[in-house]
Amino acid sequence: MADTVNVDYSTKIPNNVGLLDDQRVLKALEQWHPGYIDWWMTMGPEGFQTSDVYLRTAVSIDPKGWAKFDYVKMPEYRWGILLAPRQEDRLVNFGAHKGEKAWQEVPGEYRAMLRCLIVVQGDTEPASVEQQRHLGKTAPSLYDMRNLFQVNVEEGRHLWAMVYLLQKYFGKDGREEAEGLLQRRSGDVDKPRMLGAFNEATPDWLSFFMFTYFTDRDGKMQLESLAQSGFDPLSRTCRFMLTEEAHHMFVGETGVARTIERTCEAMKQAGIEDPYDISAVRKLGVVDLPTIQKKANLHFSLSLDLFGSEISTNAANYYNSGLKGRFQETRIDDDHILTNAHYAVSKFVDGRIKMVEEPALTAINMRLRDDYVVDCAKGVERWNKVIEKMGVNFRITLPHVAFHRHIGEFQNVHASPTGEVLSDAEWAKQKEAWVPSKDDGDFIASLMQPCWERGKYASWIAAPKVGIDNKAGDFEYVKIHRA
Ligand SMILES: [Fe+2]
Ligand SMILES: [Fe+2]
Repeated sequence: MADTVNVDYSTKIPNNVGLLDDQRVLKALEQWHPGYIDWWMTMGPEGFQTSDVYLRTAVSIDPKGWAKFDYVKMPEYRWGILLAPRQEDRLVNFGAHKGEKAWQEVPGEYRAMLRCLIVVQGDTEPASVEQQRHLGKTAPSLYDMRNLFQVNVEEGRHLWAMVYLLQKYFGKDGREEAEGLLQRRSGDVDKPRMLGAFNEATPDWLSFFMFTYFTDRDGKMQLESLAQSGFDPLSRTCRFMLTEEAHHMFVGETGVARTIERTCEAMKQAGIEDPYDISAVRKLGVVDLPTIQKKANLHFSLSLDLFGSEISTNAANYYNSGLKGRFQETRIDDDHILTNAHYAVSKFVDGRIKMVEEPALTAINMRLRDDYVVDCAKGVERWNKVIEKMGVNFRITLPHVAFHRHIGEFQNVHASPTGEVLSDAEWAKQKEAWVPSKDDGDFIASLMQPCWERGKYASWIAAPKVGIDNKAGDFEYVKIHRA
């Protein structure tokens, strides 16, 4: 029964963790379920709860065929608890416990730290659903609408994944935390979500694509480092979440690429050579490239804040305790203990941005952020290929890590996208050239006209190269039934 490859669909909560044999946890989850559905109905995708959406559902954890596609009404989605298979003889691979057998139970001394890591990760999952709940109404196509809802239901499943860990391993406080995850609300003054970027608005589809490209990628990095955890159930949970997460970043990367493609195409057709002739480009009903750059600046900088302070004793403790590793920890060629190692950290010293050698243990956040920046840059290069291919003279670039920051070394510094330190006055004068202004937002909002005809796309975005599940171009990804 506790077969780790096949999923048991006989319980209300599909799972491969043997819930039927674990009545205590099954009951706790069943008690949590109505509150979750209540949250989904009030804070999930607004206006589409009775529509049939062509969604994938995880039915196995076999990498070769883990999902099946079918029409589902979102509130009936089978949110399940799926952990990657247990690897026999898995070890703690880093920190002070390196070489010990991986833990199947929570080590008492690390209980509080682990709970905190799980709650913070868990809190981001429902937050993004809340942030995106109004977007269905302005979907630029049925294809995009389906992708939005796919991301939403999977973030819901990720919440389940974290709640399972809390219910199974943390007793009464775990149950309280599981409740808390349903109580906080993105952007709420009194009960906000725990991290800044998850309290920002996602007002339009370009924001959604940037969010899934940049902010879901922070999620990927966090999951990658938790997948290294010596606490094996957390590792297995995160490993399976990563398979779903990849699609979210695909949605973001291709969404931005298709926006760029359409802009360049419209410019070519209209004979506009200068990408900075913003008013002429906007008249074509597409988003000008400088505004796309500003959106990237904003979402990249907000996502960098999610990595926390460059120098962090918490991060050192998580690492040293074997709870949270580095990106691809086991592939790194060093001692994985790091007590004598150093790492170069960008800091603000005497009014200047400088690289400073710091103890590697306290610089763990910085290291993960560096790996994140490298990962971000790859997709940006692919965006630039689209622009280049269309023969437009423009490049999207990632801003400097000191630009527009609210956490860490650079929170009290104004820096330009190229990393030049600026006075308050200089910053105020140029800010609107670098982050979206109200005008930019209003313009983008004006483009957000729903386009729900099969096979059709809104003016500002190109059709995708291939359909989901290889469906034809005019496939009806969402059968809209408005409540
Ligand atoms: Fe997620
Ligand atoms: Fe995600």
